[in-house]
Amino acid sequence: KPMHAFIINCDGVDIGYIQYYNKHDFPPEQIYNTLELPESCAAIDWYIGELNYVGKGVGSQALNIFLNKFVFKVYENAFVDPGIANVCAIRVYEKVGFKKIMESNSAILMIKARIPENHSR
Ligand SMILES: CC(C)(COP(=O)(O)OP(=O)(O)OC[C@H]1O[C@@H](n2cnc3c(N)ncnc32)[C@H](O)[C@@H]1OP(=O)(O)O)[C@@H](O)C(=O)NCCC(=O)NCCS
Repeated sequence: KPMHAFIINCDGVDIGYIQYYNKHDFPPEQIYNTLELPESCAAIDWYIGELNYVGKGVGSQALNIFLNKFVFKVYENAFVDPGIANVCAIRVYEKVGFKKIMESNSAILMIKARIPENHSR
């Protein structure tokens, strides 16, 4: 199954990793059913590994660019499932426009739908 993997580069410095794939190709480890997710649904995993670049707005910007330049060219929805204690990631997803669809003991499931092109301006 395809996995699309990228390095996040900020001003010439490799600072992180980000990937997307079809959520339905990879059954989740947590207890939720992917059948409840939209048919066209990309999952995203990522991190910024360089501490100097964390908490400066770079992550939100990188995710936004990644969604519009790659993910939404192929998929109608983007999906993430941050741990409930991962307040930083959850905040980033909220800033970028993800909405909470479900919450379990360990994770929050969030989705952002692609904005149709004629509504984007
Ligand atoms: C998730 C990650 C990529 C975000 O990147 P980033 O560049 O730090 O994100 P930003 O700087 O754009 O935004 C961070 C936001 O979280 C907020 N935040 C950070 N720590 C917080 C805390 N403890 N409590 C509340 N808010 C917090 C920041 O204030 C900021 O929000 P603001 O702009 O409204 O002030 C990065 O933190 C990371 O690599 N985390 C480890 C891996 C990970 O969790 N990946 C996601 C898995 S779901």
